[in-house]
Amino acid sequence: MHNDMFGTGPEGKKRPKVWAVGGGKGGVGKSLVSANLSICLSLMGNKVTAIDLDLGGANLHTCLGVGVPEKTLSDYVEGKISSMEGLVTPTKIKNLSLISGAQDAMGMANLRQMQKNKILANLHEIDSDFVLVDLGAGTSVNTLDFFIAADNGILVVLPEPTSIENTYRFIKAIYFRRLKMIEELLEIQPLIEQAMNAKISSPGNAPTEFVRKIIEINPEMGMRLKNEISKIRLKLVVNQVRSQADIDIGFSIQSICKRYFGIEIEFIGYLDYDAAVWQSVKKRRPLLMEFPNSRLVNNFEKMIQRLLGIR
Ligand SMILES: Nc1ncnc2c1ncn2[C@@H]1O[C@H](COP(=O)(O)OP(=O)(O)OP(=O)(O)O)[C@@H](O)[C@H]1O
Ligand SMILES: [Mg+2]
Repeated sequence: MHNDMFGTGPEGKKRPKVWAVGGGKGGVGKSLVSANLSICLSLMGNKVTAIDLDLGGANLHTCLGVGVPEKTLSDYVEGKISSMEGLVTPTKIKNLSLISGAQDAMGMANLRQMQKNKILANLHEIDSDFVLVDLGAGTSVNTLDFFIAADNGILVVLPEPTSIENTYRFIKAIYFRRLKMIEELLEIQPLIEQAMNAKISSPGNAPTEFVRKIIEINPEMGMRLKNEISKIRLKLVVNQVRSQADIDIGFSIQSICKRYFGIEIEFIGYLDYDAAVWQSVKKRRPLLMEFPNSRLVNNFEKMIQRLLGIR
């Protein structure tokens, strides 16, 4: 379907859209979101591969209603399996396959640069319309790089102070990781250093102030930097919502990030708190299949439409 929506590679080969789901904190619903967005997309007729990159805590298979897969990313990273395609396990859901994370304590932070690059390079080569990546918690450099490499980076937050705090920490980490990449791209390390030093005497310490300082020193480079920073795009989901005030947290994170970091966060929707979630987890059945009439299913459908730009 809608082939025009997808980029094509050099040989006219279709490249999948990669959506990564992350979040600063554990247990906020990343796997729930990855699993159910995958299911929604596959029910719409798209070929979908869900990848569990929560290395060390892999459990996406359970959210998708499959047992522990025989082959996991550990086998690929260790070279026992030569291609990622060799890890693909079918699920009971039509059009949806899974690449499972490590079952040992490998951990994302322990993934070496070369291994990370190997996986990164292959993400866009997977034979699918969509590749959904469940990233696991934390802000390790590896996690950030997978998040940044995706076409859509989706951040899940709970309406709780600790989760909100971790979300800002995650956004800040993404910002500085990107800044480092842009710094290398534009070769402006000395300029950044100069602005950092100048900052000591100025009161404002928001990143937007810092960029303003750079524009003051070197308008051309400063504007290029600002332009690159404005390309940082994040999508935000507020999970376990119980009130309008909970929903509003999404809008406030959005406006604070615009003001403080100068970056656009798109609030793509919320998910109601719903007992159907743990009931389906207990049954090891995907939520969308077990409770097709729950409010959450409606939440997910709206979110997908938003992500696909249908509304
Ligand atoms: N909208 C919701 N309504 C009710 N319970 C929810 C909801 N979202 C998540 N939960 C509960 O939170 C638990 C954790 O969700 P999930 O495993 O998706 O989080 P996670 O961010 O992937 O966690 P981890 O960081 O451990 O991988 C679920 O098993 C479920 O019990
Ligand atoms: Mg998880």
